[in-house]
Amino acid sequence: MDRGQFIDLTRRALKLARQDNRPHPIRAHRRRGHLHLDGRLNWKLAIDTFAENYHFATVHKTTFATIARSNCTVFDSFGPHHRLVFPLNGILDLENAPEEQWDPLHNMVVIYALFPNIVLSCTVANGELFRVYPADEPGRSITVHQNSTPLDLFDESVAAGAAAVFDYAHATVRDEDYALVAGLQANLESGAREHLVFGRNEPGLQHRHQTWEEALPRRR
Ligand SMILES: [Fe+2]
Repeated sequence: MDRGQFIDLTRRALKLARQDNRPHPIRAHRRRGHLHLDGRLNWKLAIDTFAENYHFATVHKTTFATIARSNCTVFDSFGPHHRLVFPLNGILDLENAPEEQWDPLHNMVVIYALFPNIVLSCTVANGELFRVYPADEPGRSITVHQNSTPLDLFDESVAAGAAAVFDYAHATVRDEDYALVAGLQANLESGAREHLVFGRNEPGLQHRHQTWEEALPRRR
């Protein structure tokens, strides 16, 4: 893939992200928060935590799993980028509702993975941007987490709610995903396992690692 193709595919993925935030285009979002995570985990392990949702039922039993389904995903890829759609628990309520009353964007989280290190998580009311970088050693990484919303932050109660959502998402990633994966990082550093096997229910992980594998040899 040449530079032009890469830029075209990135533009296409971002255009879809904007569409998925209708009726509130993500370009109309207002920035709400900005925090860093300095984790004892490799940057590839860190960003992998955003690429499947079967772990919701166990890792996020009292947090994300109370609002989102586990192990149920729609996957699409756009060159080196991919998109995952995670249904929210409320989607089950649509079963007995006429299809013309469905509003899909109120019942899903859309995750965009932009090659090589960016994750954009979109709901109808919230946008989370995660940029994950290698740190000073293989077992450390830096994650820059930013949040935005199309809601009116000049309204104090709305602003307080948006702040609570950002703090909740950040704490969940820090205390549940990254805390768990720091243990995985320690296990891998022991050398006990030479490789990991991704399941058929992990198309995001498969796609990401195949893309990295294809890209890296060109830089050796
Ligand atoms: Fe997670």
